[in-house]
Amino acid sequence: MRRSSGCCAPVWNCRRPWHGRRSSSFSRRCGIRRPITRPWRAGCRTGGRNVREWVALYHTHHSLEAEDQAFWLWLAEQSGGPVLELGCGSGRLTLPLAQRGRWVVGVDRDFDMLCYARDLAAHSGGRSPDWVQADFCHLHLAQRFALIFLACNTFSTLTCREQRAVLAVARRHLTGAGVFAVSMPNPLLLETLPPRGEPEVETVFAHPESDAVVQVLSEWRREGEVVTLRWYYDCLFPDGTTRRHELTARHRLQSLDSLRDLFEQAGLRLERQYGDYERHPFAADSPWLILTARSSTD
Ligand SMILES: C[S@@+](CC[C@H](N)C(=O)[O-])C[C@H]1O[C@@H](n2cnc3c(N)ncnc32)[C@H](O)[C@@H]1O
Repeated sequence: MRRSSGCCAPVWNCRRPWHGRRSSSFSRRCGIRRPITRPWRAGCRTGGRNVREWVALYHTHHSLEAEDQAFWLWLAEQSGGPVLELGCGSGRLTLPLAQRGRWVVGVDRDFDMLCYARDLAAHSGGRSPDWVQADFCHLHLAQRFALIFLACNTFSTLTCREQRAVLAVARRHLTGAGVFAVSMPNPLLLETLPPRGEPEVETVFAHPESDAVVQVLSEWRREGEVVTLRWYYDCLFPDGTTRRHELTARHRLQSLDSLRDLFEQAGLRLERQYGDYERHPFAADSPWLILTARSSTD
Protein backbone atom coordinates (compact mmCIF):
# COMPACT_ATOMS: atom_id res chain seq x y z
CA MET A 1 0.00 0.00 0.00
CA ARG A 2 1.43 3.32 -0.92
CA ARG A 3 0.20 6.85 -0.89
CA SER A 4 1.97 9.59 -2.71
CA SER A 5 1.22 12.60 -0.59
CA GLY A 6 -0.39 11.10 2.43
CA CYS A 7 -0.87 7.44 3.12
CA CYS A 8 -2.95 4.48 3.80
CA ALA A 9 -4.43 1.33 2.50
CA PRO A 10 -7.11 0.35 0.17
CA VAL A 11 -10.79 0.43 -0.11
CA TRP A 12 -12.57 -1.54 -2.70
CA ASN A 13 -15.47 0.49 -3.88
CA CYS A 14 -16.18 1.95 -0.43
CA ARG A 15 -17.95 5.31 -0.18
CA ARG A 16 -19.23 6.66 3.11
CA PRO A 17 -20.69 9.79 4.79
CA TRP A 18 -18.46 12.50 6.24
CA HIS A 19 -18.85 12.88 9.93
CA GLY A 20 -15.48 14.21 10.92
CA ARG A 21 -14.12 17.52 12.13
CA ARG A 22 -10.55 18.54 12.49
CA SER A 23 -8.81 21.25 14.37
CA SER A 24 -5.72 23.10 13.23
CA SER A 25 -3.61 21.75 16.10
CA PHE A 26 -3.53 18.42 14.36
CA SER A 27 -0.37 16.69 15.59
CA ARG A 28 0.38 18.75 18.65
CA ARG A 29 -2.67 17.45 20.43
CA CYS A 30 -1.87 13.79 19.98
CA GLY A 31 -1.66 12.00 23.25
CA ILE A 32 -1.20 8.73 21.46
CA ARG A 33 0.30 5.99 23.53
CA ARG A 34 3.84 5.21 22.57
CA PRO A 35 4.34 1.97 20.71
CA ILE A 36 4.65 -0.96 23.01
CA THR A 37 6.84 -2.99 20.74
CA ARG A 38 8.99 -0.36 19.09
CA PRO A 39 10.45 3.00 19.97
CA TRP A 40 8.65 6.12 18.81
CA ARG A 41 9.69 6.57 15.22
CA ALA A 42 12.37 9.21 15.23
CA GLY A 43 11.52 10.50 11.80
CA CYS A 44 7.75 10.25 11.96
CA ARG A 45 5.80 12.92 10.16
CA THR A 46 4.39 15.71 12.23
CA GLY A 47 1.50 16.49 9.96
CA GLY A 48 2.69 18.65 7.07
CA ARG A 49 -0.09 20.46 5.19
CA ASN A 50 -0.42 17.93 2.39
CA VAL A 51 -0.33 14.98 4.76
CA ARG A 52 -3.05 16.51 6.91
CA GLU A 53 -5.13 17.16 3.83
CA TRP A 54 -4.61 13.62 2.64
CA VAL A 55 -5.80 12.08 5.91
CA ALA A 56 -8.90 14.29 5.92
CA LEU A 57 -9.65 13.27 2.32
CA TYR A 58 -9.08 9.62 3.11
CA HIS A 59 -11.41 9.76 6.09
CA THR A 60 -14.08 11.67 4.18
CA HIS A 61 -14.00 9.29 1.24
CA HIS A 62 -14.06 6.19 3.40
CA SER A 63 -16.91 7.56 5.47
CA LEU A 64 -19.20 8.26 2.51
CA GLU A 65 -21.08 4.97 2.74
CA ALA A 66 -20.24 3.17 5.94
CA GLU A 67 -21.75 -0.07 4.69
CA ASP A 68 -19.43 -2.13 6.87
CA GLN A 69 -19.91 -0.21 10.11
CA ALA A 70 -23.08 -1.98 11.28
CA PHE A 71 -21.38 -5.33 10.71
CA TRP A 72 -18.39 -4.53 12.94
CA LEU A 73 -20.66 -3.04 15.60
CA TRP A 74 -22.75 -6.20 15.53
CA LEU A 75 -19.68 -8.42 15.82
CA ALA A 76 -18.43 -6.38 18.77
CA GLU A 77 -21.84 -6.65 20.40
CA GLN A 78 -21.77 -10.44 19.95
CA SER A 79 -18.30 -10.71 21.44
CA GLY A 80 -19.37 -8.82 24.56
CA GLY A 81 -15.84 -7.78 25.56
CA PRO A 82 -12.89 -5.54 24.75
CA VAL A 83 -12.09 -4.92 21.09
CA LEU A 84 -8.76 -4.57 19.28
CA GLU A 85 -8.75 -3.01 15.82
CA LEU A 86 -5.53 -3.67 13.91
CA GLY A 87 -4.90 -0.99 11.28
CA CYS A 88 -7.49 1.39 12.70
CA GLY A 89 -6.44 4.27 10.41
CA SER A 90 -8.42 7.46 11.02
CA GLY A 91 -10.69 5.76 13.56
CA ARG A 92 -13.64 5.41 11.19
CA LEU A 93 -14.73 2.21 12.98
CA THR A 94 -12.82 2.52 16.26
CA LEU A 95 -14.71 5.65 17.27
CA PRO A 96 -18.28 4.38 16.79
CA LEU A 97 -17.31 1.21 18.67
CA ALA A 98 -16.04 3.24 21.61
CA GLN A 99 -19.07 5.52 21.49
CA ARG A 100 -21.25 2.49 22.08
CA GLY A 101 -19.46 1.92 25.34
CA ARG A 102 -16.93 -0.67 24.18
CA TRP A 103 -13.41 -0.59 25.46
CA VAL A 104 -11.52 -0.39 22.17
CA VAL A 105 -7.82 -0.26 21.37
CA GLY A 106 -6.90 1.03 17.89
CA VAL A 107 -3.46 0.13 16.55
CA ASP A 108 -1.86 1.71 13.51
CA ARG A 109 1.69 2.49 12.46
CA ASP A 110 0.64 5.70 10.76
CA PHE A 111 1.18 8.61 13.09
CA ASP A 112 -0.90 11.06 11.04
CA MET A 113 -3.86 8.73 10.89
CA LEU A 114 -3.76 8.25 14.65
CA CYS A 115 -3.49 11.99 15.25
CA TYR A 116 -6.56 12.51 13.12
CA ALA A 117 -8.45 9.78 14.97
CA ARG A 118 -7.42 11.19 18.30
CA ASP A 119 -8.61 14.63 17.28
CA LEU A 120 -11.97 13.28 16.13
CA ALA A 121 -12.38 11.42 19.42
CA ALA A 122 -11.67 14.60 21.38
CA HIS A 123 -14.50 16.37 19.53
CA SER A 124 -17.03 13.60 19.55
CA GLY A 125 -17.41 13.10 23.31
CA GLY A 126 -18.19 9.81 24.96
CA ARG A 127 -15.71 7.08 25.63
CA SER A 128 -12.43 7.45 23.80
CA PRO A 129 -10.49 4.52 22.36
CA ASP A 130 -6.91 3.85 23.39
CA TRP A 131 -4.54 4.48 20.50
CA VAL A 132 -1.29 2.63 19.97
CA GLN A 133 1.24 3.49 17.29
CA ALA A 134 2.89 0.21 16.37
CA ASP A 135 3.44 -2.30 13.61
CA PHE A 136 0.62 -4.76 14.21
CA CYS A 137 2.84 -7.62 13.05
CA HIS A 138 4.97 -7.14 16.17
CA LEU A 139 2.42 -6.27 18.78
CA HIS A 140 2.65 -7.30 22.42
CA LEU A 141 -0.10 -5.93 24.63
CA ALA A 142 -0.75 -6.99 28.18
CA GLN A 143 -4.51 -7.35 27.56
CA ARG A 144 -6.56 -9.95 25.73
CA PHE A 145 -9.56 -9.14 23.57
CA ALA A 146 -12.95 -10.67 22.82
CA LEU A 147 -12.83 -9.32 19.25
CA ILE A 148 -9.78 -8.56 17.12
CA PHE A 149 -10.29 -7.40 13.55
CA LEU A 150 -8.74 -5.95 10.43
CA ALA A 151 -11.32 -4.06 8.37
CA CYS A 152 -11.42 -2.36 5.01
CA ASN A 153 -9.51 -4.96 3.00
CA THR A 154 -6.26 -4.55 4.86
CA PHE A 155 -5.55 -8.29 5.27
CA SER A 156 -5.23 -9.07 1.54
CA THR A 157 -2.72 -6.23 1.08
CA LEU A 158 -0.29 -7.88 3.49
CA THR A 159 2.60 -10.07 2.38
CA CYS A 160 2.49 -13.74 3.30
CA ARG A 161 5.00 -13.14 6.10
CA GLU A 162 2.93 -10.21 7.45
CA GLN A 163 -0.23 -12.30 7.34
CA ARG A 164 1.45 -15.06 9.35
CA ALA A 165 2.74 -12.51 11.85
CA VAL A 166 -0.61 -10.77 12.30
CA LEU A 167 -2.41 -14.10 12.71
CA ALA A 168 0.06 -15.03 15.46
CA VAL A 169 -0.56 -11.63 17.08
CA ALA A 170 -4.30 -12.21 16.92
CA ARG A 171 -4.00 -15.70 18.37
CA ARG A 172 -1.86 -14.38 21.22
CA HIS A 173 -4.25 -11.55 22.11
CA LEU A 174 -7.59 -13.39 21.87
CA THR A 175 -9.52 -14.42 24.94
CA GLY A 176 -10.45 -18.11 25.05
CA ALA A 177 -13.76 -17.65 23.23
CA GLY A 178 -12.64 -14.53 21.37
CA VAL A 179 -13.29 -13.90 17.67
CA PHE A 180 -10.80 -12.79 15.04
CA ALA A 181 -12.21 -11.29 11.82
CA VAL A 182 -10.87 -9.90 8.54
CA SER A 183 -12.52 -8.55 5.41
CA MET A 184 -11.18 -8.48 1.88
CA PRO A 185 -12.45 -8.12 -1.67
CA ASN A 186 -13.74 -11.42 -3.02
CA PRO A 187 -10.62 -12.97 -4.65
CA LEU A 188 -12.80 -15.05 -7.01
CA LEU A 189 -14.42 -11.87 -8.29
CA LEU A 190 -11.12 -10.04 -8.66
CA GLU A 191 -9.81 -12.98 -10.71
CA THR A 192 -12.53 -12.33 -13.28
CA LEU A 193 -11.57 -8.69 -13.79
CA PRO A 194 -10.13 -7.79 -17.17
CA PRO A 195 -6.37 -7.18 -16.95
CA ARG A 196 -6.87 -3.46 -16.86
CA GLY A 197 -9.59 -1.01 -15.83
CA GLU A 198 -9.08 2.53 -17.09
CA PRO A 199 -9.54 5.44 -14.65
CA GLU A 200 -13.18 6.20 -13.93
CA VAL A 201 -14.78 8.75 -11.65
CA GLU A 202 -15.80 6.86 -8.54
CA THR A 203 -17.24 9.70 -6.51
CA VAL A 204 -17.20 13.45 -5.94
CA PHE A 205 -17.43 15.09 -2.53
CA ALA A 206 -16.91 18.46 -0.85
CA HIS A 207 -13.41 19.08 0.46
CA PRO A 208 -13.65 18.79 4.27
CA GLU A 209 -11.47 21.86 4.90
CA SER A 210 -11.95 24.25 2.00
CA ASP A 211 -14.30 25.27 -0.81
CA ALA A 212 -12.70 22.77 -3.16
CA VAL A 213 -14.42 19.84 -4.79
CA VAL A 214 -12.70 16.47 -4.59
CA GLN A 215 -13.06 14.04 -7.47
CA VAL A 216 -11.96 10.46 -6.87
CA LEU A 217 -10.84 8.42 -9.87
CA SER A 218 -10.01 4.75 -9.59
CA GLU A 219 -8.33 2.24 -11.88
CA TRP A 220 -6.93 -1.27 -11.63
CA ARG A 221 -4.38 -3.66 -13.10
CA ARG A 222 -4.60 -7.41 -12.70
CA GLU A 223 -1.34 -9.33 -13.07
CA GLY A 224 -1.53 -13.00 -12.14
CA GLU A 225 -2.31 -13.31 -8.46
CA VAL A 226 -2.13 -9.60 -7.74
CA VAL A 227 -4.66 -6.86 -8.37
CA THR A 228 -3.39 -3.31 -8.01
CA LEU A 229 -5.98 -0.65 -7.30
CA ARG A 230 -5.11 3.00 -7.63
CA TRP A 231 -7.10 6.03 -6.52
CA TYR A 232 -6.50 9.61 -7.55
CA TYR A 233 -7.94 12.29 -5.29
CA ASP A 234 -8.08 15.48 -7.36
CA CYS A 235 -8.81 18.61 -5.33
CA LEU A 236 -10.27 21.26 -7.63
CA PHE A 237 -10.01 24.67 -5.96
CA PRO A 238 -12.26 27.64 -6.83
CA ASP A 239 -9.23 29.63 -8.12
CA GLY A 240 -8.65 26.98 -10.78
CA THR A 241 -5.70 25.29 -9.10
CA THR A 242 -5.66 21.56 -8.50
CA ARG A 243 -3.86 19.20 -6.17
CA ARG A 244 -3.67 15.45 -6.61
CA HIS A 245 -3.12 12.76 -3.96
CA GLU A 246 -2.66 9.13 -4.96
CA LEU A 247 -3.28 5.89 -3.15
CA THR A 248 -2.19 2.45 -4.31
CA ALA A 249 -3.19 -0.91 -2.87
CA ARG A 250 -2.04 -4.34 -4.01
CA HIS A 251 -4.29 -7.26 -3.15
CA ARG A 252 -2.97 -10.79 -3.24
CA LEU A 253 -5.60 -13.21 -4.48
CA GLN A 254 -5.74 -16.17 -2.12
CA SER A 255 -8.20 -19.03 -2.29
CA LEU A 256 -10.45 -19.77 0.65
CA ASP A 257 -8.62 -23.09 1.11
CA SER A 258 -5.23 -21.43 1.32
CA LEU A 259 -6.59 -18.88 3.78
CA ARG A 260 -8.05 -21.67 5.89
CA ASP A 261 -4.62 -23.40 5.95
CA LEU A 262 -2.92 -20.15 6.91
CA PHE A 263 -5.36 -19.60 9.77
CA GLU A 264 -5.04 -23.19 10.95
CA GLN A 265 -1.26 -22.99 11.02
CA ALA A 266 -1.65 -20.01 13.36
CA GLY A 267 -3.99 -21.92 15.68
CA LEU A 268 -7.16 -20.27 14.37
CA ARG A 269 -10.17 -22.19 13.12
CA LEU A 270 -12.37 -20.53 10.49
CA GLU A 271 -15.91 -20.25 11.75
CA ARG A 272 -17.97 -18.17 9.28
CA GLN A 273 -17.45 -16.95 5.74
CA TYR A 274 -19.70 -14.04 4.83
CA GLY A 275 -20.02 -12.59 1.34
CA ASP A 276 -21.15 -9.12 2.36
CA TYR A 277 -21.77 -6.91 5.35
CA GLU A 278 -25.39 -8.04 5.57
CA ARG A 279 -23.99 -11.43 6.57
CA HIS A 280 -25.06 -13.39 3.51
CA PRO A 281 -23.02 -16.58 3.04
CA PHE A 282 -19.96 -16.24 0.85
CA ALA A 283 -20.48 -17.17 -2.84
CA ALA A 284 -18.38 -16.89 -5.99
CA ASP A 285 -20.08 -13.63 -6.94
CA SER A 286 -20.14 -12.03 -3.48
CA PRO A 287 -18.56 -8.58 -3.29
CA TRP A 288 -16.52 -9.46 -0.22
CA LEU A 289 -14.93 -12.30 1.67
CA ILE A 290 -15.32 -11.75 5.41
CA LEU A 291 -13.82 -14.40 7.65
CA THR A 292 -14.35 -14.98 11.33
CA ALA A 293 -12.25 -17.42 13.33
CA ARG A 294 -11.63 -18.62 16.87
CA SER A 295 -8.65 -20.17 18.58
CA SER A 296 -8.52 -23.85 17.74
CA THR A 297 -6.72 -24.91 20.88
CA ASP A 298 -8.51 -23.11 23.73
C1 LIG B 1 -7.36 0.53 4.64
S1 LIG B 1 -6.79 1.34 6.07
C2 LIG B 1 -8.12 0.90 7.10
C3 LIG B 1 -8.38 1.94 8.13
C4 LIG B 1 -9.57 1.64 9.02
N1 LIG B 1 -9.51 0.31 9.59
C5 LIG B 1 -10.87 1.80 8.25
O1 LIG B 1 -11.59 0.81 8.15
O2 LIG B 1 -11.15 2.89 7.76
C6 LIG B 1 -5.48 0.25 6.63
C7 LIG B 1 -4.68 0.79 7.79
O3 LIG B 1 -3.78 -0.22 8.20
C8 LIG B 1 -2.57 0.38 8.59
N2 LIG B 1 -1.51 -0.63 8.51
C9 LIG B 1 -1.14 -1.35 7.42
N3 LIG B 1 -0.15 -2.18 7.75
C10 LIG B 1 0.11 -1.99 9.07
C11 LIG B 1 1.01 -2.57 10.00
N4 LIG B 1 1.87 -3.54 9.62
N5 LIG B 1 0.98 -2.16 11.27
C12 LIG B 1 0.12 -1.19 11.67
N6 LIG B 1 -0.76 -0.59 10.84
C13 LIG B 1 -0.76 -0.99 9.56
C14 LIG B 1 -2.39 1.53 7.63
O4 LIG B 1 -1.52 2.52 8.17
C15 LIG B 1 -3.82 2.02 7.48
O5 LIG B 1 -4.12 3.05 8.36
